[in-house]
Amino acid sequence: MNAPTVELTQVIKSYAGDSHRKVLNGLDFSIDPGQRFAITGPSGSGKSTLLNILGTLDRPSSGTVRIAGTDTAGLSDEGLAHLRAETIGFVFQLHHLLPQCSALENVLAPALARSQVNWPETEQRARDLLQRVGLEHHLTKVPGQLSGGERQRVAVVRALINRPRLLLADEPTGALDEANARNLMDLLLEISEAEGVSLVLVTHDPAVASRLDRAYELRGGALHRQ
Ligand SMILES: Nc1ncnc2c1ncn2[C@@H]1O[C@H](COP(=O)(O)OP(=O)(O)O)[C@@H](O)[C@H]1O
Ligand SMILES: [Mg+2]
Repeated sequence: MNAPTVELTQVIKSYAGDSHRKVLNGLDFSIDPGQRFAITGPSGSGKSTLLNILGTLDRPSSGTVRIAGTDTAGLSDEGLAHLRAETIGFVFQLHHLLPQCSALENVLAPALARSQVNWPETEQRARDLLQRVGLEHHLTKVPGQLSGGERQRVAVVRALINRPRLLLADEPTGALDEANARNLMDLLLEISEAEGVSLVLVTHDPAVASRLDRAYELRGGALHRQ
């Protein structure tokens, strides 16, 4: 049997300076390869905190985080960065593209963090994915020359360039108008299915959440299945 893509057990998270407040309070979560889950919850409920822990960008105060069966507690920051580069892709509400780099260069940037890269193959994958999202004529444009919807599509492709097992998306449609938001969701669902990647998507929008396999609400530091 395959290990879950990521598994959290009894995760507690509080922040320095506010250590009495448990943002995550004994949270359990598990997602298998290819599953797509939504996480909703009010502002300040800890959704971004949870995604940061799922993505190994932050460590829990206690509890365990396993990525594809590996307990991350035993890894150094360098080991964690390596695991992250090989396994996890991120899409944020604001695209965080490098403003001085072209769409193609932005997509290739995460490959620099890998220990071994076949560059011709990786560049071909970047071009293929950009074509798939309708951006084949925008390869050399910088983010300032792209629309908001186009920038988010570049950000999705960038998150996929290293063939992650897990795609984490923090309100990826939050800054888009309705039509662009729907298009981006279509793309995320289509491409996560085609790539067999697990998707955890944070959203305010119940209509978006209802399109995923399962929706959870984060409340009181724990997840509640909807
Ligand atoms: N780096 C940090 N240091 C201290 N407190 C933080 C930090 N990040 C988030 N918080 C606090 O943790 C709580 C949850 O934040 P967050 O995870 O960003 O919620 P959400 O994404 O659901 O809006 C908030 O009260 C926030 O102020
Ligand atoms: Mg947030």
